[in-house]
Amino acid sequence: MKEALLTIVGNDRLHAKWLNTLSYLENTGARKISACENDHTTDIVQLKHAAEEHRHAYYLKKQITKLEAGTLAHYENKDLLAPVFTKQYLQRLDLACSRYLGERYHISGNKLKYAAYLFVTYAIEVRADELYPVYQEVLTELQSKVMVKSIILEEEGHLEEMTHMLQLFDADWNDPAKAILEIEKELFNNWFSAVAAETFTYAGIKAAMD
Ligand SMILES: [Fe+2]
Ligand SMILES: [Fe+2]
Repeated sequence: MKEALLTIVGNDRLHAKWLNTLSYLENTGARKISACENDHTTDIVQLKHAAEEHRHAYYLKKQITKLEAGTLAHYENKDLLAPVFTKQYLQRLDLACSRYLGERYHISGNKLKYAAYLFVTYAIEVRADELYPVYQEVLTELQSKVMVKSIILEEEGHLEEMTHMLQLFDADWNDPAKAILEIEKELFNNWFSAVAAETFTYAGIKAAMD
């Protein structure tokens, strides 16, 4: 993973697309959290979480202006890395996890929606806690003006909150959580392989032209 990130951060054009891709994923995550809010029972933890994920999407988008590649106004496919995989990653994760949780807990409707919110968000937080620190390491190494330290701090908080909420939902949450992490791992690997392949192809073509 680090090798691909070194190539991405080392190239402004790729880096801008990478930031836009992360911004897209954060925004999709934020919208999913908001969509799971209940009219009567939404609490401050959920509000905070949604607000912070929206902030991450905005913050990452704003980081693009620190690069010389110019701004990327929207989330059009041409402005994202591996756009098809990027746009499928969270949708597929949601679907696969809902299917698994529905069968495991014999729930449907709002109950299933809430369980999926807990477990999917948990899996994404575990992923965020792995991905952002490696990305920040590369940013520091290449002395980039871009920084994601504030995101790392908030993601760590989210993981703690999700763990706490899962504990309240089911004292035996560890077992299903493992299955959810397996589902996420496969989808993430597919997504990141596509990002890395696109990155190395782009860097190879550019090197041949220089
Ligand atoms: Fe986030
Ligand atoms: Fe988060």
